[in-house]
Amino acid sequence: MSLLREIAELIVTEGPLSVERYMTLALSHPLYGYYRSRDPFGAQGDFVTAPEISQMFGELIGLWAVDCWARMGEPEELALIELGPGRGTLMADAMRAARAVAPSFVAASRLHLLETSEILRARQREALEKTQGAHAPVAWHERFAEIPEGNFILIANEFFDALPIRQYLRTAQGWRERLIGLDSEGKLAFGLSARVEAALHLDAPQGAVLEICSAGVSLSREIGARLLSFRGAALVIDYGHVSQGFGDTLQAVRRHGFVDALEAPGETDLTAHVDFTALGRAAAELGAVQHGPVTQGQFLRELGIDARAQRLMQGASQDQVRALELATRRLTGNASDEMGMLFKVMALSSPSLPALAGFHSAP
Ligand SMILES: C[S@@+](CC[C@H](N)C(=O)[O-])C[C@H]1O[C@@H](n2cnc3c(N)ncnc32)[C@H](O)[C@@H]1O
Repeated sequence: MSLLREIAELIVTEGPLSVERYMTLALSHPLYGYYRSRDPFGAQGDFVTAPEISQMFGELIGLWAVDCWARMGEPEELALIELGPGRGTLMADAMRAARAVAPSFVAASRLHLLETSEILRARQREALEKTQGAHAPVAWHERFAEIPEGNFILIANEFFDALPIRQYLRTAQGWRERLIGLDSEGKLAFGLSARVEAALHLDAPQGAVLEICSAGVSLSREIGARLLSFRGAALVIDYGHVSQGFGDTLQAVRRHGFVDALEAPGETDLTAHVDFTALGRAAAELGAVQHGPVTQGQFLRELGIDARAQRLMQGASQDQVRALELATRRLTGNASDEMGMLFKVMALSSPSLPALAGFHSAP
């Protein structure tokens, strides 16, 4: 049975689903969930992420982590955590760069990868085995709470955008939840709950869409609580909005193009923009320090991407030089098909780490 049929049957027996339940099934269904059933990355897949564009991305984040560890007082044991590591490219590049400048950082590190997909766990294992990073012990986890407590550095690139959201539409009567039901032909279709959400007091014009990512906010709270009990920092990189606003940002991508979010659950990548204000507030309310967000372009330039590209260009062929120039532009450029402005970078840290590299341009 396809996931589409399973969801349609669920709606017949239980009634319309929230967008949150739909996203959870489409992305994480144990058999047919998008991430459970494939490796979606690269030219042959559905999308390309920053670490897959260039080794420079992971390398600079590795050096950022070494700098953080130094600011933490070089603890002898460190959990290096990555949420949703994809193919493991970022961590492999980060460990290789870190080993070159600080072998004692690698010796102190224990890798903890939060990943639900068995297919991607196998890719991550392969990627790490190919690098020197394999010398740092690796453990995989399903949930953040399983990761052993202690000093830590956490990296999350394009992870929070994959967490499910609820959507609410402002109607003449108040906020009503957007639901997914069946139309007269039995196809999936958006609708609205009959119930008005009395607990939502936000003022907005009719037609405004409010998105709430409870999974993201609770995870940020868990991270914030650990930052208070232990020393550490968390780096979140994703596309999203800096100031809280209204808008429908649910999107589906397949083969590098946008498609209908209800068309083929389990076969398209579903994401929503990350609300950095909500994530930052959840951790800051507990006492963690928030850094940024700054744009990805600002962050990578401050970490020295231009110098790293120049260094790699020395002795490179003309084609390689062109590829490096193109990758630098894709990662830092401000055009709508480049990531420099669209993607934002925010860090959260323990109060004992009041400043972190990469955030000097933060307002
Ligand atoms: C868009 S990919 C990002 C991959 C990687 N960080 C990169 O930059 O290439 C999202 C990753 O998060 C994982 N993932 C999605 N939802 C998850 C969840 N609820 N728990 C754990 N991992 C999840 C996916 O399997 C995948 O590895």
